Amino acid sequence: MKDISNDALAQELLGQIARLKKEREAVILAHNYQPPEIQDLADFTGDSLELSRMAAKTPAKVIVFCGVQFMGETAAILSPDKTVLLPVLEAGCTLADYATAERLREAKEKNPDAVVVTYVNSSAEVKAESDICCTSANAVQIVQAIDRNRPILFVPDYNLGHYAAKMAQREIILWDGCCPTHALLSTFAIAEARKKWPGAQVIMHPECKPETLELADFIGSTSGMLSYVKTQPAGTSFIVGTEVGLLHRMQKENPGKTFHVASDYLICPMMKMTTLKDVKDSLEKMRYAVKVEASVRLRAKAAVDAMLQYTGTVVHKSQKMK
Ligand code: 13P
Repeated sequence: MKDISNDALAQELLGQIARLKKEREAVILAHNYQPPEIQDLADFTGDSLELSRMAAKTPAKVIVFCGVQFMGETAAILSPDKTVLLPVLEAGCTLADYATAERLREAKEKNPDAVVVTYVNSSAEVKAESDICCTSANAVQIVQAIDRNRPILFVPDYNLGHYAAKMAQREIILWDGCCPTHALLSTFAIAEARKKWPGAQVIMHPECKPETLELADFIGSTSGMLSYVKTQPAGTSFIVGTEVGLLHRMQKENPGKTFHVASDYLICPMMKMTTLKDVKDSLEKMRYAVKVEASVRLRAKAAVDAMLQYTGTVVHKSQKMK
C-alpha cells in the first residue's frame, strides 16, 4: 500500500481539502472501492446502501461523492437541496450502462405484470422506470418481500439477480448486464487461490458469476463482507472475491487477519480514477455538480425511497449459498 505520510504534495493537498471542506460546509463520502488515500480522507466510507443513507441524512450543504456516476446521482435524487459533486466526471459504471430507459420500457411492455426491481447500479432514468431499487446488501430481502403472485424483472445485473432468485427461491426475469470486473473472476482463479493459500476462507460479492459464487464460503455486499470478517477468529486468512479497494479497510480494521485478493484482475478502472487533486479541485471549483432532471428525479426517488423504507435497519445479512 502506498504510504503518503512523507509525500509533501499529498500532504499539501490534504491540507487544502480540509480547509475547503470547512469553507464549503461539505462532507466527503467514499465507496469501499476507492483508492486508499481517498478512503482515508473521507468522512464516511461504505457500501452503496450505507452511502445512500448517509447522503439522505447528512446536514452538510455539499456532498463530495468519491465513487461513480450512479452513486452521485443517487445522492442527488435523495438530496435535491444539496450540491452533490462528483470529482471525476467520466467515472461511470459499465454495469449501469447495460440498461437504458428505452430498453426497460420495452421489457415492461413484454412483461406488463412484472414488478421491476432495479439495482442501484443504474441511471436515474432507469430508476425512474422502476418499482423499487435494491443494493447488493438487500437484494435478497427485497425480492423475498415481493408478492409471490407477481413476476419480477431484475435490472441490470444478471449475476446479482440470479443470486437473489436462488436465495429467495423465486423465478426472476433476468437482464443481460454484468459488472465486467466481477464477471472476470473465474472458478479457475478461485481453485488456484485456494491452492496458493490453503485454509483461507473465500468471500465474494454477489456480482460474481453463479458458478464462481458456488465456491464461496461467504457472499455479501462490500460492507457485508467487512462485517463478516470481523466475526471470524484472529489469525484467519481470506481470499477476497471483489474489487481490490475493499482490502484496504479489511486490513486496517482487522490487523490480526490476512487478506488476499482472489485475482489480480479485480480492479475497477472507474473507481480508481479519483485522486487527491480531483477532490481538491472539486471543492475549489464546485465541480462536477450532479444534476437530475426534476421529473426523472421524482420518479427515481420513489423507487429509491421504496428501498430505503423497506430495508429499515437491515443493512447486511450473513448469506451463504450452500
Ligand atoms: P456494494 O453494494 O457492496 O457497495 O457494491 C456496489 C458495487 O458497485 C459492486 O461492484
